[in-house]
Amino acid sequence: MTAPHDVCAYRQSRPWWRDAVVYQVYPRSFADLNGDGIGDLPGIIDRLDYLVDLGIDAVWISPFYASPLNDGGYDVSDYRAVDDRLGTVTDMDVLIEQAHARGLRIIMDIVPNHTSSEHAWFADILANGVDSPAWSRYVIRPGKGANHEEPPTNWRSVFHGPAWSRLVLADGTVTDYWYLHLFDSTQPDVDWTNPQVREEFLDILRFWFDKGVDGFRIDVAHGLAKDPDFPDMDYESIPASEILGLAPGAPYWDQDQVHEIYREWRKVANTYSPPRIFCGETWAPTAERLALYQRPDELHTSFNFDYLAAGWDAEKMRASIDATVENHLKVGAPPTWVLSNHDVIRHATRFGPTPNGSPVTGPTEVDAERGLQRARAASVFMFGLPGSAYIYQGEELGLPEVFDLPDHTRQDPVWHRSKDKDTGRDGCRVPIPWSGEAPSYGFGPGEKSWLPQPTQWAELSVTQQRGDEDSTWEMYRRVLQCRRNEPALGDGPMEWYDDAPTGVLALRRFTAEDDQPSVIVAINMLNEPVHLPSGWGTEVLTASESDVVVVSDEDSSHLVLGAETAVWLRG
Ligand code: GLC
Ligand code: CA
Repeated sequence: MTAPHDVCAYRQSRPWWRDAVVYQVYPRSFADLNGDGIGDLPGIIDRLDYLVDLGIDAVWISPFYASPLNDGGYDVSDYRAVDDRLGTVTDMDVLIEQAHARGLRIIMDIVPNHTSSEHAWFADILANGVDSPAWSRYVIRPGKGANHEEPPTNWRSVFHGPAWSRLVLADGTVTDYWYLHLFDSTQPDVDWTNPQVREEFLDILRFWFDKGVDGFRIDVAHGLAKDPDFPDMDYESIPASEILGLAPGAPYWDQDQVHEIYREWRKVANTYSPPRIFCGETWAPTAERLALYQRPDELHTSFNFDYLAAGWDAEKMRASIDATVENHLKVGAPPTWVLSNHDVIRHATRFGPTPNGSPVTGPTEVDAERGLQRARAASVFMFGLPGSAYIYQGEELGLPEVFDLPDHTRQDPVWHRSKDKDTGRDGCRVPIPWSGEAPSYGFGPGEKSWLPQPTQWAELSVTQQRGDEDSTWEMYRRVLQCRRNEPALGDGPMEWYDDAPTGVLALRRFTAEDDQPSVIVAINMLNEPVHLPSGWGTEVLTASESDVVVVSDEDSSHLVLGAETAVWLRG
């Protein structure tokens, strides 16, 4: 048996990404070193020690490539350059070196489904039309109708409206052709059946891997292959709420051909020492389909959005955990868990009870205090699940969604494309409050921030929370520290406690060899305290609130776990 202080050695015996806690930086909103109101790479370098203190293992940085920033950088105009507003390639070299010196891994974000319409390839098409050598690198098809005035299919953009726009050349010529854009019209979809496209992206991967980047998160990983017949989509057959997102059965999502692409990518990643890794932003209709992406010769991990979508609902959470773990075991990959990112309503708000009990899908009245309490509990529970986990910047501060941004400040293309109906994702992208009493709260040296920060955010700043034992920041730090010290956490087996009281989800974590101390991970989802079975013991490792008390009578002792609270116990 390895002694507890040998935990690091135990962990190091398996690849880092199987256990990692990955912190997502949305660079525009993280830290702005030069004060222009836009977060930048030097800002990230400046805060690396903060990330080390928090106790994370790897940083995933959302795109910072050269980009018109129409979709916050998910519209790339040059994959080998850094946007001037965010820094330089040299800054990135420094960032990688400084992160590695601190033991942090760096994951970049690759956007292979589409480029920006300002990418040199698309610009060449706009200049030269059908004679452009880049023509076949995009999904361009003749329009339907006598004058080609109708789009080739009825496909809809994830950002509202049609997924095709008529191709109008730079000189104003209206062509007979339409180009596909599953997202904004400034994000034309690339044609992955073209070998030139495949070669180019392999080369981009090598460019950054050679610099020492440890891996890539793959944007829209399930979207690269389209059904070669380009059939119309039967939108009638799916619930309205799914049309823009996963759209099960859509001829542009989760097509079998997509897997060949990742087999090629994996080969490139494996030529490096240590091997570089991939994490897919993969939306698949079932846990079974999702696990296919994690076969041993494809991606290392994928985001598990099914768990995110389960919400604050014990039954759905348990079902999602079961399906995920079972299907990942089949392919030998560790599951991943995530509750927030730059595309969804922050979970401190999303979990908040509403007056009429309806789920929080947009601006609405929410019980913020209970929302935060639930979010803290859900996060502690999540960090105890098998595999690796993600944190979205600011969730360690318990930041809420900002629903009341002034309309003129909104930048998400979703807002414009929905004709100002869907407020979009800016509310989870408001710059981080670091310190001070007034905006920009230490985000930059002055007042500027590309989205305005709420006045109440002074209280939520990092400096306000550090040192306050009850703060969300200190809770995250304690929990991550504990996770690191417990060999049974991270990758490895789990089993449910079926004697858990109603409203409580509880599982036992142990090592595969069962030669290390086990951990009980439990969450009380009820709005009242519950008595835990005495057999679970009373040794608390950490908890989301201090409200965990030991009750003893003559014969035995047990714990009472506070309302909407999660706890880790020595198993
Ligand atoms: C992914 C990103 C999202 C982006 C979209 C288009 O879903 O997470 O932010 O808008 O892809 O690239
Ligand atoms: Ca800046």
